[in-house]
Amino acid sequence: MEILGIDIGGSGIKGAPVNIETGELTAERFRLPTPQPSVPEAVADVVAEIVRHFKWQGVIGCTFPAVIKNGVAYSAANVDQSWIGTNGEDLIQAKTGCPVLLLNDADAAGVAEMAFGAGKGHTGVVILHTFGTGIGSAIFVNGHLVPNTEFGHLEIRCKDAEHRASARNRTKEGLNWLAWAYRVNEFLARMEVLFSPDLFIIGGGVSRKHKKFLHLLESRAEIVPAKMLNQAGIIGAAIAAFEHFD
Ligand code: BGC
Repeated sequence: MEILGIDIGGSGIKGAPVNIETGELTAERFRLPTPQPSVPEAVADVVAEIVRHFKWQGVIGCTFPAVIKNGVAYSAANVDQSWIGTNGEDLIQAKTGCPVLLLNDADAAGVAEMAFGAGKGHTGVVILHTFGTGIGSAIFVNGHLVPNTEFGHLEIRCKDAEHRASARNRTKEGLNWLAWAYRVNEFLARMEVLFSPDLFIIGGGVSRKHKKFLHLLESRAEIVPAKMLNQAGIIGAAIAAFEHFD
């Protein structure tokens, strides 16, 4: 069974068909830049172009970096504000003619890691964080996702956590790995107080460089790098859509 997974990010929109049984991409990933400004119509047009590229006619799972409930975006931290209140599911469905499930990007990455990656077989409380432009979060209790947690917006030192400890902030402020890890540790410590997780999975683009910083991170919980790197969103979106439309 194949489902088309699409991952909408702040700078790129990428997609590929996914084999749901194995979690593998069945064709080479296709990526287009995210239109700027990233208004709903323009973003949906790019998604439709990706769908056409694969001559796709079936179910689509699609991520979006915001709170998503029943297809509607309720936040827009790193995308155009006009997304708030937009039913992205309806919009993409209208442009492609395909049934669409829209879900939060970090939730999708978490679904992929739990099914085929670093979280596979883990019970208890598992928290995945993606460190990129923002900080995404997904929490699983015995394998069940609690969606739209948005922990990256917890306040730390009077700021959104993601405005201190995202990967973007590391480069923007020129922080070395140690200085950045200190901030990430403050964030993980807060998460530990709130949820006593058994496992943290560190994902997002920066997880590619985990050898540079993972040993600097501290927690009572085990800390592991994500395994699926920049494909997690695509794969997780496809799995979630499969479960939704099944
Ligand atoms: C958004 C989240 C998203 C995260 C990662 C945050 O700014 O609020 O919805 O999951 O960035 O993209």
